[in-house]
Amino acid sequence: MNFNLTDEQQLVRETCRKFADNYLKPKAAEYDRSHEFPWEHIEKLSGMGMMGIVYPEEYNGAGMDYLSYAIIVEELSRGCASTGVIVCAHNSLCLSPINYFGNEEQKKKYLSRLTTGEWIGCFGITESNAGSDAAGTTTTAELKNGNWVLNGTKNFITNGGVASVNVITAVTEKGIGHKGLSFFIIEKGAPGFSVGKLEDKLGICASPTTELIFDNCEIPEGNLLGKKGDGFKIAMHTLDGGRVMIGAQALGIAQAAFDEAVAYSKERKQFNQSLSNFQAIQWMIADMATEIEAARLLVYQAAVLIGSGDRRKYSKQAAMAKLFASEMSHRVTHKALQIFGGYGYTKDYPMERYYRDARITEIYEGTSEIQRIVIASNVLG
Ligand code: CAA
Repeated sequence: MNFNLTDEQQLVRETCRKFADNYLKPKAAEYDRSHEFPWEHIEKLSGMGMMGIVYPEEYNGAGMDYLSYAIIVEELSRGCASTGVIVCAHNSLCLSPINYFGNEEQKKKYLSRLTTGEWIGCFGITESNAGSDAAGTTTTAELKNGNWVLNGTKNFITNGGVASVNVITAVTEKGIGHKGLSFFIIEKGAPGFSVGKLEDKLGICASPTTELIFDNCEIPEGNLLGKKGDGFKIAMHTLDGGRVMIGAQALGIAQAAFDEAVAYSKERKQFNQSLSNFQAIQWMIADMATEIEAARLLVYQAAVLIGSGDRRKYSKQAAMAKLFASEMSHRVTHKALQIFGGYGYTKDYPMERYYRDARITEIYEGTSEIQRIVIASNVLG
C-alpha cells in the first residue's frame, strides 16, 4: 500500500497542524479545566469543512478521502483530544449512518445541515446494561398512530446535549436479539426527549458525555433510519469506520506526548548532562518512536481500506488499528510522563492531560477486549 500523500493530503495535514498549534494547543488546558464545550473551535472547523469531511458535496460535505480524515483527526487530537473526539463522533457516528442508510429526504434534511456544522450529531447504542453487549439494548420503539414512541435511556453519549441530531438503536421486536433492533433519528426538541446526567470524567473533559432520555418520546414514522430490524448491523457498520478514527485520535495524543518528551529530554539536565544522553531515556524514545510509526501504518491502512468499499471486509483492520493505536498511546503517554518525572505529574505541563486523555481510547467505540473478539473471529472464521 502506498502512503505517499497527495498534494491535497499534505495540504490538509499542514492546515490542520497549523490550526492545532495556533488555536487548539494554547487553549486545551483551559478547556480541560473548565469542561466547557469548545464552540469557538467547532465554529472554525465548520468553516474548514471538518464537520462533513468525507461526505458528498451534494450534501454540503467536503468530499475528502478517508486517509485525509484520519490525518485530520490525528492532527486535531495532537492539539486538543477533546476537539478530536467531538469531530470524530459527529462525522463517524452520526453522519455516516445517515449517509449510508438514510433515504434522500433524510440526507437532504439532516446530512446537509450536519456537514456544515449548523447541527452537531451524536450516536447512542450504549445503555446501563448494554455496553459491550450492544445487542442487549432495552430502549423500545413502538409505532403508534403514525409516530414512533421511544422509551428508555442511553448513556455515555459523546456530544450528548450539544447535538441537534441524535441517532440511536431501539428494540422494535422483542425476543429475537439483535435482529429486533432498529435505528432512529431523534431531533433535539422532540417531545419526551431530554438530556440526563453529564459525566464527570478522567479525561477528554471538554467533550460532553451524557445520558439521553426517552420518555414516551414521539418522532415521525419517517425517522426510522434504514430498514426495520437492521439497527444492529447499521451500528456495527458505523463503528467499523469510527474505530479507525479513534485509532487516529490515539495516534495524535501519543505524537503530542512524544514531541514534548523529546524536547524536554534535550533541555533537562541531571548529573551535569541532558536526559537525552542517558541510554535509559534513549531506549524509551526509540521504543516510543517505533510504536508510533507502527500505529500510524495500521491506522492509515485501515483508513484507506474502510474508505474503499465494503466495510465489513475490513472490520478486522479497523479493530487492529484501534487496538494497537490506543494501547500504544497508553504506553507512550506513560513513558513520556516518566521522562518528565515529577513535573509531568503536575498541571504545569500537558503531560498529565495526554496521559488521562489517552486512556479512553482503549474503552470507547469498543473496548480493547471487544477489538480482540472482532480480530479473533475474523481470523478464526
Ligand atoms: N458490520 C455489519 N454487520 C455485522 C458486523 C459488522 N461489522 N459485525 C457483525 N455483524 C452482523 C453479523 O453478520 C450478524 O448478522 P446475522 O445475524 O445476519 O448473521 C449480526 O451482526 C450479529 O453478529 P455477532 O453474532 O457477531 O454479534 P454479537 O452479538 O456477538 O456482537 C460484538 C459482536 C463485536 C461483541 C458487538 O456487539 C460489538 O462490537 N460490541 C461493542 C459495542 C461498542 O463498540 N460499543 C461502543 C459504544 S459506542 C460509543 O462508544 C460511542 C460514544 O459516543 C462514545
